[in-house]
Amino acid sequence: MATAPVSPPQPSTNRSHMNPVPPSVFTLPQTAQLEALYTIIRDKDTSRGDFLFYSDRIIRLLVEEGLNHLPVVKHTITTPTGTTYEGVRFEGKICGVSILRAGEAMEAGLREVCRSVRIGKILIQRDEETTLPKLFYSKFPQDIAARYVLLLDPMLATGGSAMKAVEVLIEHGVPEERIIFINLIASPEGLQTFCGKYPKLKVITGWIDQGLNEKAYIIPGLGDFGERRYCE
Ligand code: URA
Repeated sequence: MATAPVSPPQPSTNRSHMNPVPPSVFTLPQTAQLEALYTIIRDKDTSRGDFLFYSDRIIRLLVEEGLNHLPVVKHTITTPTGTTYEGVRFEGKICGVSILRAGEAMEAGLREVCRSVRIGKILIQRDEETTLPKLFYSKFPQDIAARYVLLLDPMLATGGSAMKAVEVLIEHGVPEERIIFINLIASPEGLQTFCGKYPKLKVITGWIDQGLNEKAYIIPGLGDFGERRYCE
């Protein structure tokens, strides 16, 4: 019995809900494969095991894309054939900073591609009195001001936590233009606010969604990333 024909690779329809996208935002190529990965992690019936596996696959793609935005300098080496090869190497040192708790899920993906990478952490929560994002805890490598920072948070909803995290990094001496924000799903509102406030940092996102609901969840989104990753 013949199986159903396999369709050739198709570009995914561009479903970006933001037009125009701010110039500092870089979206992963919106291929059919990427859309298939997102379809799995968005599905409420996806098991925790599959959620972990497929969100890790997207995180890996995001980290690789983030590294494409780091500057390089010329670096000449000699190959085993005795030939001189004029190549490049990364210009500076890097550091990952995860916004707890969901951002922690992206640390392993960074470690997979950057051996012995330094990792900092930052915990921001809503201040019940002011309703504004408040810094509760931070721990960074002592030389963070001399490093490029890959700031990790899978969901950019209102942008409040990300903006607070950048504020704290700048207070620690990291120039805005040395921060690369790495994110799985962004809302157009969050991107507008975040990139409006910090236009010199780059944002690498996998997908720009439709918007936010009244509880500030991203729509269609995937629900609560931390719950799905750690609890369900
Ligand atoms: N954080 C999440 O985990 N999900 C959202 O939709 C928004 C913020």
